[in-house]
Amino acid sequence: MGALESRWDELQRSPLTLDLTRGKPAPEQLALSDALDGILGGDYRLEDGSDARNYGGLRGIPEARRLGAQLLGTDSENIIVCGNSSLQAMQLVIDTAMRYGLCDERFSALGSAHAVVPVPGYDRHFALTESFDIEMIPVPITATGPDMDALEETIRSDSQCRFLWCIPKYSNPTGCIYDPATVDRIAALPNEARGPLLILWDNAYAVHDFNFPKAELAPILTSARKHGTDDSIIMFASTSKITFAGGGIAFIGGSETTLNAIEARLAVMTIGPDKVNQLRHAKFLNGRVDDHMAAHARILKPKFETVERSLQTHLGNRDLATWTRPEGGYFVTLSTAPGFATQVVAMAATAGLVLTPAGATFPYGHDPEDSVIRIAPTFASNDEIEKAIEILAVCLELSIRRSP
Ligand SMILES: Cc1ncc(COP(=O)(O)O)c(C=O)c1O
Repeated sequence: MGALESRWDELQRSPLTLDLTRGKPAPEQLALSDALDGILGGDYRLEDGSDARNYGGLRGIPEARRLGAQLLGTDSENIIVCGNSSLQAMQLVIDTAMRYGLCDERFSALGSAHAVVPVPGYDRHFALTESFDIEMIPVPITATGPDMDALEETIRSDSQCRFLWCIPKYSNPTGCIYDPATVDRIAALPNEARGPLLILWDNAYAVHDFNFPKAELAPILTSARKHGTDDSIIMFASTSKITFAGGGIAFIGGSETTLNAIEARLAVMTIGPDKVNQLRHAKFLNGRVDDHMAAHARILKPKFETVERSLQTHLGNRDLATWTRPEGGYFVTLSTAPGFATQVVAMAATAGLVLTPAGATFPYGHDPEDSVIRIAPTFASNDEIEKAIEILAVCLELSIRRSP
């Protein structure tokens, strides 16, 4: 047996129990926000004098709207604070656009709807889109955002394009940041489209930098106002990966027209959001977001450095794979030689390493090259990451060697 085969044998005989399928914060990250508990000290008064414990305030409390404005690079008047999950807010926005109309007539009256999705992308965007029977049209993503020539061509030629998904900063899963020219071209797209087009601007990793001063993303609403497209831009963020994933607050950003349409839908769903949690978050984060995110970075940056070092050690200069080197966010994208991702993910599972299924970062689970593997290292320890990357590398090398 060769050295590689015997190493694989060893790895399988002492398997890991490691699930890297999702970008989950590590327990040490969650602990950074433990002071949320008790921060109000019995004082539920908002800065406008009202009581956080009572009904009302559909757009959210002023101090939490300010926090959302900071995350989304806009003004408080452009923010609704709602619920604990931005994904749920995305569901609400798509539902409103399809069935009731957001800034135009309802999309369901305009025939079948299509959504353009930069790939590789976020599997939950795809699941959400599919749940509305919206057909997904992939365009490739580059180091500076979506391939803009391909995107503009798609938008101009497909009269059914109604949505464009964007994760503009530390994109899931490649980690790229859209450059200012890309942001401006995206803001102009609704003017190019042959029907109404909504830009779903999911800024989930807006402040999730590893280095400070942090990388700046060009503010899309500013560009959109210049192009007269601001009614077509809907932005999203949450504190899921700032404070508690599941116990945070979520934000929708947009123009007054779109916020009015969303508020009208919220009004039939709830008498008011959880303003107590909004107040806790505003007290905890306002004025110290960068310091708090720097504390996250001190935990996360070494993990991403371990990913990079281990990939270099096992796969560097060998023409077997390439990978991204993000400076923030939650993911690294490993691109294997074409045709091996499914096999590598399946083999890794036999050594106790569970990864996001190959293909999940493409609509309908189909990666045409079968090459993309998403690595989500945040929850694991450095030792586990080293072992996980070695498993990936051994599985890839063996798969390639064994291929006919
Ligand atoms: C791009 C992106 N959007 C949204 C979410 C989920 O956000 P929330 O917890 O606010 O629903 C994630 C989580 O991984 C994500 O990567």
